[in-house]
Amino acid sequence: MVAAWLQFVIRDWFSHGTSPTEDPWVVPLAADDPWMQPPMRIMRTPDDPTRPPGATDLPQTRVNVLSHWWDASQIYGVSADEQKGIRTGKAGKLLPLPDDPAKDPSRVPGFWLGTEMMRTLFTREHNAICDRLRAEYPTWPDEELFQRARLVNAALIAKIHTVEWTPAVISHPTTKAALRANWFGLEGERVQRLFGRLTDSEAVSGIPGGKADHYGVPYSLTEEFVAVYRMHPLIRDHWHLRHVADDSTARDCDFRDLAGPNALPVLNDIGMADLLYSFGTLHPGLVTLHNFPRHLQEFRRPDGNFQDLAATDILRSRELGVPRYNEFRRLLGLAPAKDFHDLTGNPEWAEEIDHMYRDIENVDLMIGLFAERLPAGFAFSDTAFRIFILMASRRLNSDRFLTDYYTPAVYTQAGLDWVADNSMSTVLLRHHPQLRSSLASVVNAFAPWTTSGV
Ligand code: HEM
Repeated sequence: MVAAWLQFVIRDWFSHGTSPTEDPWVVPLAADDPWMQPPMRIMRTPDDPTRPPGATDLPQTRVNVLSHWWDASQIYGVSADEQKGIRTGKAGKLLPLPDDPAKDPSRVPGFWLGTEMMRTLFTREHNAICDRLRAEYPTWPDEELFQRARLVNAALIAKIHTVEWTPAVISHPTTKAALRANWFGLEGERVQRLFGRLTDSEAVSGIPGGKADHYGVPYSLTEEFVAVYRMHPLIRDHWHLRHVADDSTARDCDFRDLAGPNALPVLNDIGMADLLYSFGTLHPGLVTLHNFPRHLQEFRRPDGNFQDLAATDILRSRELGVPRYNEFRRLLGLAPAKDFHDLTGNPEWAEEIDHMYRDIENVDLMIGLFAERLPAGFAFSDTAFRIFILMASRRLNSDRFLTDYYTPAVYTQAGLDWVADNSMSTVLLRHHPQLRSSLASVVNAFAPWTTSGV
């Protein structure tokens, strides 16, 4: 089991953008359905404005309005304008929050306390990296310090995600070793730290610092990747926030108290150390059927309208042309489910899915993913894992800043050392030393932490 930290996955790799309000999808509801704004309307995904007119014979395409590179754009923004709004203009450093209230992130749908805690932590980390670089290069101007610190911070996040976060979610010994090898190669962390890259081979010495490779296809994220990333059941409905000093209750709340504009007052009142402690010692929701958070089924959007994200997730995969569960597996070279009992180890679920779909070929992707038997140590399905493991190396392979340019000339030696020397635990402890005893016995900060006073 992994700590509620898991929910901190930096999901800002993709967004299909703001939907047009006209011509929404209308979801048919049973007469006694309690939905509060009937009929249920779900806005359509915007069209791809770059698509040639009349290209009806091509597969459908959509655009990502965010950056899907490992560039920490969830902190630094995706435009020069957004970046300007978070910089102090001095010594490369960042402001705690944008100085323009119109750019307040709490206005964005999906913003909640977890994303703000993560942003705050890595903003502090950026500023610490600036101090380190300035000590080494005292004459560097603001811009130089900022750009180098950004590279170092983004690479550190990529490393944490590759060798700590992902192995915590798929904690099978083989996948753990494979993911560590993506970063350190078969030579391993110790040898790499002592002798550097021994060879040009990605298998022996890891992807960072090797040659960029697009494998003949420009880097992009597929709709299949978006579909398997729809892991909303990770979000808990109930949150017991506690003090790190003695585990006493700080606040008992539900998800709505932590979402949108409510997040910032909670952060200010309770403070980062106690919140980090609470998240580190709570468990996330399981990514299975019958566990979709109630608050995301009745999610109040910043425009005041309600949205059922469970219905939306199913509809989106259909809308965007992602195949149904069995076809999805076939296209991955996996055996399709023969029948409903073959699909899931839970006989009750098999009956329910049969009742709902009748034909196994019609089962929606998300339903199949959430119903599937999980391999030992996996927090999500084997089918989803096939897509994740592919993208885990692809994101590194294609990124020139993590391959050809992962050098002292681009990052500085101090910057490369910073990435090598740090982990999620060292970042947490640098900014919140009160967490030391909670983290003392955990090897991976994404595993549950020790509860104070126990
Ligand atoms: C913390 C609470 C969260 C809220 C309030 C939230 C809210 C939303 C909303 C409003 C959307 C747009 C739905 C649409 O297509 O109309 C969305 C999409 C999505 N969410 Fe979440 N989400 C949360 C957490 C998560 C987590 C933890 C994950 C994954 C680990 C996740 C993965 C996704 C994905 C993959 C999409 C599709 C993005 C796109 O198509 O552009 N979300 N979410």
